[in-house]
Amino acid sequence: IPKAGVIGNPISHSLSPKLHNYWLRRYDLAGSYTALQVAEEDLETTIRSLPGQGFIGANVTLPHKVSVLQLADHITDRATLIGAANTLTFKEDGRIFADNTDGYGFIANLKQGAPGWNPKSGPAAILGAGGAARAIIVALADAGVPEILLSNRTRPKAEALRAEFGARIKVVDWVQAGPMLADAHIVINTTSLGMKGAQEFKVPLDDLQSQTVVTDIVYTPLRTPFLIAAEAIGCKTVDGLGMLLHQGVPGFERWFGMRPEVDDNTRQAVL
Ligand code: ATR
Repeated sequence: IPKAGVIGNPISHSLSPKLHNYWLRRYDLAGSYTALQVAEEDLETTIRSLPGQGFIGANVTLPHKVSVLQLADHITDRATLIGAANTLTFKEDGRIFADNTDGYGFIANLKQGAPGWNPKSGPAAILGAGGAARAIIVALADAGVPEILLSNRTRPKAEALRAEFGARIKVVDWVQAGPMLADAHIVINTTSLGMKGAQEFKVPLDDLQSQTVVTDIVYTPLRTPFLIAAEAIGCKTVDGLGMLLHQGVPGFERWFGMRPEVDDNTRQAVL
């Protein structure tokens, strides 16, 4: 039976095994999907050994998403642009094909959760400039967002993304992150602020408009303090769990031959 899994360190918190095993059961497919805890120094040996053990592919999560590119024989354009991969497929001839579906998952989640949002209609505002922000910037630019307002506590990281991804990005100082939200048609929190166990979300929301779509990549808790505050203003909100579920779709389809649904049953299965 075809095997796949998720490679990370740590890995016990990953929801991917629940997600893929739920889909395997739902569609009555032969296959297995397991969590693989792999240290950085074992990454290459482990990945090279997987095809021989019957693995047809794997997801990759922190901290290996960037370093795994060095092992790949073919890297998709979107993975190259993002500078990281989350989905590997092992070809029969031994070649490793690396893709990044995070940006796809981000957009698919919004299309499902906020169907009224038109990417081309106006600016997006992003809080944070880490690895998650990179995938989202690439996805938003690809979807035709005319302007990306980007604010990060450590401003040089936002400047570096502007230098890399171009003039469509406007860097806004972290102290101006609140006023920045006034012009946005969509606001995305990519920082860890508001996550269970992390610091509280304290960007002022006085300028946030009720027509703005608001999303958070944090999904523990599912309804973050940021999403709750945005709902109180009247904003349409989309939680971050859907991004995780949708990013799994292309890999599952490639490995197991069936394009899976992301719906309420899928959400229930991983919670
Ligand atoms: P990820 O890959 O999930 O984006 P990351 O690369 O560690 O994770 O990025 C975390 C983001 O959260 C960064 O934008 C970080 O800001 P800095 O670049 O200034 O570190 C942001 N972040 C984390 N804690 C924060 C805090 N207390 N206040 C503001 N931003 C914070």
